[in-house]
Amino acid sequence: MPGVFEAVKVTDKVYWVGAIDWGVRDFHGYLTSRGTTYNAYLILADKIALVDTVKAPLKDQMLARIASLIDPKQIDVIISNHSEMDHSGCLLSVADLVGPQRIYASAQGAKALDAHFHCDGRIEAVRDGQELSLGNLKLQFFETRMCHWPDSMVSFLEQEGLLISQDIFGMHLAGTERFNDEVAPAVLDYEYAKYYANILLPLSSFVAKALEKLAPLLPKVKVIAPDHGPVWRSGLADVVGRYQRWSRQKRCNQAVVVYDTMWGSTALMAQAIGEGLRLAGTPARLMPMGANHRSDVAAAMLEAGALVAGAPTINNTMFPTLGDVMTYLRGLKPRGLVGAVFGSYGWSAESIKDLTAIMTEMKVDLVGEGLKVHYVPDEAALLQCRQLGTDVAKRLQQVLAGG
Ligand code: FEO
Repeated sequence: MPGVFEAVKVTDKVYWVGAIDWGVRDFHGYLTSRGTTYNAYLILADKIALVDTVKAPLKDQMLARIASLIDPKQIDVIISNHSEMDHSGCLLSVADLVGPQRIYASAQGAKALDAHFHCDGRIEAVRDGQELSLGNLKLQFFETRMCHWPDSMVSFLEQEGLLISQDIFGMHLAGTERFNDEVAPAVLDYEYAKYYANILLPLSSFVAKALEKLAPLLPKVKVIAPDHGPVWRSGLADVVGRYQRWSRQKRCNQAVVVYDTMWGSTALMAQAIGEGLRLAGTPARLMPMGANHRSDVAAAMLEAGALVAGAPTINNTMFPTLGDVMTYLRGLKPRGLVGAVFGSYGWSAESIKDLTAIMTEMKVDLVGEGLKVHYVPDEAALLQCRQLGTDVAKRLQQVLAGG
């Protein structure tokens, strides 16, 4: 597709040559409601370097953007900051076409790429902190282990004030806008938080270490160029600051009530619990699983201090949509939560046992022993639900106050 797609200038000598994936909606279990981009960057130094590639089916779009600037065969060096397939899927086929002198990755990256593509030592490992001269420009690599995979590293181009950050500081957001200041702030804020909540939250201790390692560079960074979504060219202190806060799992006075319902009873209970939370001063978001995706629940839980989970019992177990979302949340390892469980039942109430077990594994500070209602809640039962909401709110506010 030469002639159709163009590169976008990021800094004086660096161009975005990535691809826009408008239609992707499932990113290993994460609902990418707004699609995504796979960002690759071309450094036009004395030696020309390509940093990361794109998902395999979008290779031609990337090559066309490169061809809007240079003949792709002029690329001297390819750098893989992260070996996950969304960035490496076409790496080897691009290398075959381009014939670079060298392909670099972290030590773990070289191993991971070999395990994916069986490339027999074609990838050269760079050390943490190693510099690579491109003639008039110099790149430096820093390992950011487990942010997102063991192989992850970032590339710093000091002369351009550019940090190419792979997954970190990214978001799943397709768009023709390439820079953060061109995107509506509410969209940017939501997708940035959703990405952290779904991809990096369980790796928060590694994120904190990476931030510590990168701290000396940050005063020199003018542009952060991640591998997904817009390039950040303003508000960098806030961009990094949010990662610092999220990596500490700092919680706030908000509750999420996640539930599903068979005949409306557990939904009635959820509404009464939400009212109790509100009346006691804790804003509550009710998320019925028939209307919400697990990854949006995860986003809502990023800073919320309370998780209240409700499920009816079906076939002696919790309703399966709650099994799905609770398994997913447990894997994301949220810490410091207050919570409660509830549900309507017919002839047995195993959902309470199942939800309690998973919340206990998640180390949630549980209020009460689980509130169950036989079939349809009457007014007295709904007042009990409302009281449970109030009790959760009070416990959360006490925890946040340090009590
Ligand atoms: Fe965007 Fe971990 O890959």
